[in-house]
Amino acid sequence: MANTIADLQRKKDAGEKISMITTYDATFARLVEAAGIDMILIGDSLGNVMQGRDTTLAVTVDDIIYHAKCVMRGCQTPFVVADMPFGSYQANDEDGVRAGIRILKEAGVHAVKIEGGMRCVNLIKKLVEAGVPVMGHIGLTPQSVNAMSGYHVQGKAEQDAENLVRDAKALENAGCFSITVECVPRQLGKRIQDAVNVPVIGIGAGPDTAGQVLVLQDALGLGLGKKSKFVRQYATLGQTVIDALKTYAADVKSGAFPSDQESYH
Ligand code: KIV
Repeated sequence: MANTIADLQRKKDAGEKISMITTYDATFARLVEAAGIDMILIGDSLGNVMQGRDTTLAVTVDDIIYHAKCVMRGCQTPFVVADMPFGSYQANDEDGVRAGIRILKEAGVHAVKIEGGMRCVNLIKKLVEAGVPVMGHIGLTPQSVNAMSGYHVQGKAEQDAENLVRDAKALENAGCFSITVECVPRQLGKRIQDAVNVPVIGIGAGPDTAGQVLVLQDALGLGLGKKSKFVRQYATLGQTVIDALKTYAADVKSGAFPSDQESYH
């Protein structure tokens, strides 16, 4: 049985931290489940780490559904959230409701995540009313990279911090069961968590939120780009993979692979 929204709220209320990680395929979904991670995000960061793009902007609803289906085949217990990609909800709420329903219906995930504060409140109300649980996402919102002139820490000025606290309250009132807060000063991460009752899941928002999320490839040391300050690398799998493949290539060249025991008779 998968974790539920009520389980996540209970953890937050009990002061038990919530772990979340992005995942895009069945192999890693199995490993993430085996590690006992509470929540999985099929992030539109798949545009970066799976598709090799510079931004998340080109990711489509079909891309999200494809990767979400792969993830759902690999795990049963984590609570699974899928991103609503850029372009699927900005033009009007009807598009957004249809896209949200499609993602839940076709991929079988448990909730969707939407980037944006006050401006998304009406859409979030409609999705929640339609039975689509919504996670909010404020602070650094990568779908707005062009409008924000790049990827920067958000909420440093007092007025911006106040706006983010106001956004978080509006998202909770609209029915979000949880809110991702990305790249804000740690004091603001705490201020936002203190302002709402639902679990805030931080990424670069300090240690005082109810939970943390990281991009899987960053946490495992599989990333190719520069490491952000907030990322902790729990392994150096990139180097492990290169070393293993070099040994494989050398064994093939020398004839050491396959051996007689690895051959059929
Ligand atoms: O797409 C993503 O991976 C995300 C996380 C960075 C929170 O939204």
